[in-house]
Amino acid sequence: MRKKLIAGNWKMYTTAATAKALAEAVARGVTDNAVTVAVCPPFPWLGLVADAVKGSQVAVGAQNCHYAAEGAYTGEVSPQMLLDAGCKYVIVGHSERRHGLGEPDRFLNRKVKAAAAAGLKVIFCVGELLAEREAGETEEVLWFQLAAGLNGLSPEAVSKLVIAYEPVWAIGTGKVATPAQAQAVHAFIRKQFAVHYGEAAAQALPIAYGGSVKPDNAAEILRQPDVDGALVGGASLKADSFLGIVRAAV
Ligand code: PGA
Repeated sequence: MRKKLIAGNWKMYTTAATAKALAEAVARGVTDNAVTVAVCPPFPWLGLVADAVKGSQVAVGAQNCHYAAEGAYTGEVSPQMLLDAGCKYVIVGHSERRHGLGEPDRFLNRKVKAAAAAGLKVIFCVGELLAEREAGETEEVLWFQLAAGLNGLSPEAVSKLVIAYEPVWAIGTGKVATPAQAQAVHAFIRKQFAVHYGEAAAQALPIAYGGSVKPDNAAEILRQPDVDGALVGGASLKADSFLGIVRAAV
């Protein structure tokens, strides 16, 4: 049985005060460990959010990292810095960085390896554009993103991985993939993963869905056999809606 993961991606939202209040409210609302829950605030609030959820069931994640341990990389943050700030997770390859900022697959592969080697759990995002889905290229795109992004991972790194399937056309649009669409892609990802890393690793791999997940559509998506959680953007910015999704995962 794969335990479900509900992770909130706060993107570039919140102030110091609202981040603290949101983290405290989420920590208060998660009273058992039936579901793994994480919140991913902007970099400047990592420490204060880690303090706010200390002693609770809620883990902290970052939204990005660099692959180097240290160096002259202005504006970047290393995996070890994230660990020091209290992070357990890091998101790598979110479409807002792949497509929005042009981060290439090779670069993402280095980040996945470095973050996992440092001891972070990596939420590696993959997903097709609307035009790619309409052209029937979804599986080809995902195959490439998985092969390139996860090339050469150690078994240790593989065990630290979470895949987030985030169809780009569903992110922040209110257009959610149907449960059947999500299930089909998740099953495909697990099959591809088995080709690279073996059946046992594929069965253990958590695959979360992301893209307009809300309390009222979460249960049906999370009920699919290969959907092991959700990466939640907009609905993670209010404690009530985020906790509604956590409850839907039980
Ligand atoms: P959304 O974002 O829930 O607002 O669609 C999901 C994500 O970008 O991870």
